[in-house]
Amino acid sequence: MARILITSAIPYINGIKHLGNLVGSQLPADLFARYMRARGHEVMFICATDEHGTPAELAAAKAGQPVDVYCAEMHEVQKDLAKGFRLSFDHFGRSSSQRNHRLTQHFAGKLADNGLIREVTEKMVFSIDDNRFLPDRYIEGTCPNCGYDSARGDQCDNCTKQLDPTDLINPHSTISGSTNLEVRETKHLYLMQRSLKDKLEAWIDSKTDWPVLTTSIAKKWLHDGDGLQDRGITRDLFWGIPVKKGDQPWPGMEGKVFYVWFDAPIEYIAGTAEWADAHGKPDAEWERWWRTDKGASDVTYYQFMGKDNVPFHTLSFPATILGSGEPWKLVDYLKSFNYLNYDGGQFSTSRGRGVFMDQALSILPSDYWRWWLLSHAPESSDSEFTWENFQGSVNKDLADVLGNFVSRITKFCAAKFGPAIPAGGSYDDRALALIADLETRVRAYETHMQEMEVRKAASELRAIWVAGNEYLQSAAPWTAFKTDPEAAAAIVRLSLNLVRLYAVLSEPFIPDAAATMLKDMGTDNRTWPGPVAEALEALPSGHAFAVPEVLFRKIADEEREEWSKRFAGTRG
Ligand code: 2FM
Ligand code: ZN
Repeated sequence: MARILITSAIPYINGIKHLGNLVGSQLPADLFARYMRARGHEVMFICATDEHGTPAELAAAKAGQPVDVYCAEMHEVQKDLAKGFRLSFDHFGRSSSQRNHRLTQHFAGKLADNGLIREVTEKMVFSIDDNRFLPDRYIEGTCPNCGYDSARGDQCDNCTKQLDPTDLINPHSTISGSTNLEVRETKHLYLMQRSLKDKLEAWIDSKTDWPVLTTSIAKKWLHDGDGLQDRGITRDLFWGIPVKKGDQPWPGMEGKVFYVWFDAPIEYIAGTAEWADAHGKPDAEWERWWRTDKGASDVTYYQFMGKDNVPFHTLSFPATILGSGEPWKLVDYLKSFNYLNYDGGQFSTSRGRGVFMDQALSILPSDYWRWWLLSHAPESSDSEFTWENFQGSVNKDLADVLGNFVSRITKFCAAKFGPAIPAGGSYDDRALALIADLETRVRAYETHMQEMEVRKAASELRAIWVAGNEYLQSAAPWTAFKTDPEAAAAIVRLSLNLVRLYAVLSEPFIPDAAATMLKDMGTDNRTWPGPVAEALEALPSGHAFAVPEVLFRKIADEEREEWSKRFAGTRG
């Protein structure tokens, strides 16, 4: 039994996530966690809401709520949706937790002790009417290069010129519209990542088994342009983790908070501590996952995220960990994803474009979405959600293949032999060929799951379902029954055992359907298959079962058209 630590990138608090967010981190992480548990490993699966930063402050202001109240409410909303999608986190934490405050301040203190923090005085735009410093993207004005009147402080979207907020003509705050702006000096802490470059490079170079997508992004950031830059880890904001050196005040940093990207990944650790607190467990219980001096040296740590998050997880967060000089666990394997697009364009949270988690669950149960999203995960390139494709996969894979197999064999058996596994007969060549085929396929499925090759795992699972369906079609127990009921009984016994096997194998993808299948087969036996021939003897003759309700329904053309219209615009 191995010990497996899994974290998913933690979703921003400001709003409900869309299906593109879901498939880029939380959902594949859940697939992997479920698989590892099914294989008998000890799993710790952590996620949380990412609650700091200007976007959270602005979303709260827009909702007319104090930011802490807004975050507490949105956390519950996201937590319920995660439950709705059956995301099996051991803990869904909050980056605003006291645990994260203490740990973030602890790391900053250690980095300072190790000479890796320097103070930098910068000039920033201050909005007198908003009573705050403005991050670059909250300042707009006329581009000095092309005259575009909505250029942002960091870049002109029209001519793409990189800008400094002070370059803008007639700058104003996008928060209040105020033009009452001035440049003020402010002091910030910088993490001296450059001095950790050699260590980081050696560490990344040692990860020869990482996906190309991950290492290529990491190396690009390590070497391109000026290479790895020192990075500001504090901000002039009201909402966030107060800057402190461990539990001591940090002179000159009063009223400032840590940058959201500094504290967010630390929440992976803090979230595990929150898990221990929530279960009344002592610190040793979470430390054994994270401290290599306290038992974590035999932990394998996997991270899941979209490609835009890779630099933070291959460089910045490891810089925090390595720079602390303490024996914290570093990631062992980083699985990253491309983007999922929506019907000819991008999913967009700010523009409300696409299907969001709450909307998806309002029209179909989570298994339908889980299956489509995972079987179309954007692994080697970006992929696209279209309603036609969704309808096609659901109707074919789930309804016609898996659902139909389960329904046909249970109904036939109940009608001809009664609602229990029939005795008699033995495997013919066709059955033996199926078993041999499944033996190869199940082992291939295991390899793809272990290697987090999500699409390959889905197509192998689909092939496993198809093999059973084709076997049943050609073995035709309904014909055999007329002349040789014993032969028919052997086919039926094998096929009903396949239903249980399918439930066990499919659980990581479609947990609800798997639970229904097991329940109807009257068993709790979720043992992962060793040799397939043995696994197909789990349910003995005489074992009672029930005929399931429709496992998966088909999506009608009219529904598809209606949904595609309903979700064509932007969310209100
Ligand atoms: O991109 C995002 O959604 C970020 N909230 C991910 C943070 S992951 C981590 F660092 F915790
Ligand atoms: Zn311009």
